[in-house]
Amino acid sequence: MGRNDELLARRSAVVVSGLPRTTPVTVDASNGATLTDCEGKEFIDFASGIGVMNAGHCDPEVVEAICAQARKLLHSCIHISTYEPYVALCEKLVSLLPHGPEGTKCLLLNAGSEAVENAIKIARMATGRAGIVCYTDAFHGRSMMAMTLTSKVTLKQGCGPFAPEVYRLPFPNHFRNGDGRSVEQFARDELARFEYLLTTSVSAEHLAAVIIEPIQGEGGFVAAPPAYLRGLRDICDRHGIVLIFDEVQSGFCRTGKWAAYQHFNITPDLSTWAKSMGGGLPIGAVIGRASVMDRVKPATLGGTYTGNPVACAAALANIGVLEKRDLNAAAERIGGRIRDRFTRLQKTTPLIGDVRGVGAMNAIELVLNGDPAQPATTITRSILDACVARGLLVIGAGIYGNVIRTLPPLVIEDAQLDCALHILEEEIVRHARAASAA
Ligand SMILES: Cc1ncc(COP(=O)(O)O)c(C=O)c1O
Repeated sequence: MGRNDELLARRSAVVVSGLPRTTPVTVDASNGATLTDCEGKEFIDFASGIGVMNAGHCDPEVVEAICAQARKLLHSCIHISTYEPYVALCEKLVSLLPHGPEGTKCLLLNAGSEAVENAIKIARMATGRAGIVCYTDAFHGRSMMAMTLTSKVTLKQGCGPFAPEVYRLPFPNHFRNGDGRSVEQFARDELARFEYLLTTSVSAEHLAAVIIEPIQGEGGFVAAPPAYLRGLRDICDRHGIVLIFDEVQSGFCRTGKWAAYQHFNITPDLSTWAKSMGGGLPIGAVIGRASVMDRVKPATLGGTYTGNPVACAAALANIGVLEKRDLNAAAERIGGRIRDRFTRLQKTTPLIGDVRGVGAMNAIELVLNGDPAQPATTITRSILDACVARGLLVIGAGIYGNVIRTLPPLVIEDAQLDCALHILEEEIVRHARAASAA
């Protein structure tokens, strides 16, 4: 038995089976956009550990900051004693992502799910209301409230009862549900659907928050129409509802800006962050308007490890690398290249129903007979497996698993990017031909 199989067998013996394992790849080391498995085989990373390694694997400055902080202070708990990295990270976040003229405040957490949990708590305390609106195809995490807000039922089966006072609307997915309407008309119709909810299901005075991913991550990299987000902002302003943008997957340069919402010129009241904020260490944040953040009751927030000093040091160094190497510009360049190639391929490959993306957050959706209602789930799985076998670690997305998403580290070299795209294109074409011959 090789070292890869040996490790996988050890995993099966002692690691709980409900933990997803989407590829048979093992990993022993990493650098830039390259992963090396336990037998020395190299992979080009098109997954970035699910959108975490925007600054690349094991950037020397991030590694050094982690080591230096670990030598000085590993943990003390921010409830008990105040340490500089926590405050410095909040200062940095506030300067990059101001949320309102009255000032911006932060709360640090351990991960994206925790950020979502806390954003909901803050919105409820700030408004004194209970109701939350969320969306189909959404992914907000796996803790109890976050899982309630998450849409895909197979990720939640047998885990209920779920949190009460959650109301779900269809995500405004123009590709799937546009039905020949212009994006503008579609956005108007979906906003009317929101107003209808306020009449038929829950009154606006009962709603604490609306939580939405401006660009859905696990849902398949679908961007909400800008007019829809503007309309949401307006509805929330009119009724005193807290608007929460979940930027856990779309944040920190992935889309070519610090926040995806900066593409839309709409600022939420609260936002949630994790993944590429920490450069590989577990850390998350809620950032929000001071007037909302400071309406919470004493001692209602926090946690033993939240804003751990080593994770804060990693996040600060990581943000430094993102700035110094101008990885927002890199995301635009990389994303443009990916979309160009996919758009060209789409012209000759009917299996590709949609090519979409913002910056370096790109995806292609595979459908049968050009019909958005016929997801090519099995073919997509087979393409992903074939790419992995050829040394390209790439993952799927979408409620039906028929979306191929590309999440390379933003430090990927041009030659690696071309090689990865070549593998992906060859496998798509091969599978499309086999499907049309069948
Ligand atoms: C948009 C979004 N929100 C929240 C989460 C949950 O984050 P975590 O896995 O760090 O708890 C994810 C994870 O994929 C996500 O994509």
